Amino acid sequence: MKFTTFSILAASATSLCSALPAELTDFLLVTYNSTATPPGNSTQDIVSATSLFDPYYQEPYLLRLIGPGYGSLPRFNLSSGTLSSWASGPHGQGYYLYNSSSVTAGTEFQLLPHEQPAGNIALDDAGLLTVGGAKEGWTLCDGKLSETVLFWKGADASCKSTFVHAVQDPPY
Ligand SMILES: *[C@@H]1O[C@H](CO)[C@@H](O)[C@H](O)[C@H]1NC(C)=O
Ligand SMILES: *[C@@H]1O[C@H](CO)[C@@H](O)[C@H](O)[C@H]1NC(C)=O
Ligand SMILES: *[C@@H]1O[C@H](CO)[C@@H](O)[C@H](O)[C@H]1NC(C)=O
Ligand SMILES: *[C@@H]1O[C@H](CO)[C@@H](O)[C@H](O)[C@H]1NC(C)=O
Repeated sequence: MKFTTFSILAASATSLCSALPAELTDFLLVTYNSTATPPGNSTQDIVSATSLFDPYYQEPYLLRLIGPGYGSLPRFNLSSGTLSSWASGPHGQGYYLYNSSSVTAGTEFQLLPHEQPAGNIALDDAGLLTVGGAKEGWTLCDGKLSETVLFWKGADASCKSTFVHAVQDPPY
């Protein structure tokens, strides 16, 4: 059932724009300070990979930047305005399909191990992640444990604007 839904979405996305770098399944999210296609073989200063982050074992996963030397990177699917990714729960207990919650200004991008109502996330033709149709508004802000965390319209003085791109291959 679920597989059918994803196949239909992927097929219609392909026919709308065959240049779409990331289909709606199995992509990585990277940050880049430009709307241009991120260079494939890069360094973290330019394009940064993202990883799940649960400071102090809190339930929602956040997205943080991660440099070279990571073990693996989360891969995402997008359906009904919601991103999902498989991950183990806090303390490594269980393995769940985490779903993004509706994105609101001034808060971290969050993934929850629960079903979510239809969300407001999409990918545009260039593979940029949008919220309510806007690609501009993602920010990288200082988070807990000295990590850099992805927010939507983070207002903290530490926040810097970025764009979030769906890509197939890790930048490093
Ligand atoms: C993006 O970052 C690079 C490296 O830090 C910098 O050279 C470039 O000017 C920045 N571009 C934009 C559009 O901010
Ligand atoms: C990627 O960059 C690394 C380090 O700069 C270099 O050694 C490697 O050859 C590059 N690979 C490709 C495919 O360009
Ligand atoms: C994404 O979709 C693909 C193809 O249907 C599936 O194999 C994969 O498990 C899905 N991943 C997530 C995170 O839902
Ligand atoms: C995440 O959402 C999907 C699709 O609605 C659902 O099948 C899945 O059970 C949800 N994950 C959890 C842990 O509830």
